[in-house]
Amino acid sequence: MQTPHESRRRAPARAARRSPGDPPAVPWKKLLAWYRANRREMPWRGSRDPYAIWVSETMLQQTRVETVRGYFARFLARFPDVRALAAAETDDVLKLWEGLGYYRRARNLHAAARLVAERGRFPGTAAEWAALPGVGPYTAAAVASICDDEPEPVVDGNVTRVAMRLRAAPGDGRDAREKARIAAWLRPAVAAFGAPGDFNQAVMELGETLCAPQAPQCLLCPLRAACRAFAEGDPERYPERRPAKETPVRRLFAFVVRDAAGRVLLAQRPETGLLGGLWELPMAPADPGKNRGGASAARRALASLGLRARALRSLGDVLHAFSHFRQELHVWEALDAEETEPRENRAFANPSDLAVATATTRALALRPAPETVVPET
Ligand code: ADE
Repeated sequence: MQTPHESRRRAPARAARRSPGDPPAVPWKKLLAWYRANRREMPWRGSRDPYAIWVSETMLQQTRVETVRGYFARFLARFPDVRALAAAETDDVLKLWEGLGYYRRARNLHAAARLVAERGRFPGTAAEWAALPGVGPYTAAAVASICDDEPEPVVDGNVTRVAMRLRAAPGDGRDAREKARIAAWLRPAVAAFGAPGDFNQAVMELGETLCAPQAPQCLLCPLRAACRAFAEGDPERYPERRPAKETPVRRLFAFVVRDAAGRVLLAQRPETGLLGGLWELPMAPADPGKNRGGASAARRALASLGLRARALRSLGDVLHAFSHFRQELHVWEALDAEETEPRENRAFANPSDLAVATATTRALALRPAPETVVPET
């Protein structure tokens, strides 16, 4: 398959004029030198293979580099190129994504791989990358700049923080207008040094390491001399923090039901929406109120799932954070249980054979206290 950078390389462009509010000339060259001397080793660094870079940047959305390393290595070992990914079963792709979160990324990557394999070529520009499912402006700019030298700035959360501190810009940096302003400000700089991929990664890396949200290490920063936030003496003020919203809590009963062979009853979630296609313990809402996690409420919840048990045993609670709510699972083991009403999306299985939601994996690791069996009355 043809890769775009084999066909084209761009000439460096000249830096644009400064506008009011911009910091004094930013020593971007120093940033590049800092990056080249200090960049962290990452399994995808040094590659310009669009498939590997695309997979890595997709995994890096909302996820820390340290977490991504192992997932990336396993993913590429199993699906070494876009054709292998295109030919894969969705369940196998999800299994390799298990625990990484934001599972729509995996579904979109898989769907986009099928499109790319069908066309027989990778996108050649950031705009073409952004037309693929799940590829936003940030991933498109990252891949096109790294693989094809396109001088398109990446504007993710880390870059936003660096830019807002350099400019001492007001606001929380989340609205599209501020992002567009940052992109317009960075575009000439990205083009100026003939290495857009290194430039973008240098700004991201600075934001992930020295220019951290808290306790930035300004004394080591190659851009300190031009940084308005540093000059003001309180760089942590930028970007402004939004007051923390209270995250709602959803309380659920979750039941561990095993068959004689020790397999666990698991239910598959609908393909679309939260945790689409993943498997989890049978769950039912817990009533809000005083006794919401108690044995009689648990029994009613079990019955609502079409299940009956000789006895219930509390295994404890699992608290799991999602991006916009927290889940509180009251986990019960149902002993000698049977399905009174089998459900289509439910089966006894070995959890290691399926892509299982993390809260369920955590629930399955709970062990009962010996005295907690509550017999059926
Ligand atoms: N964060 C996301 N992509 C990155 C990259 N290519 N380099 C450094 N940090 C990143």
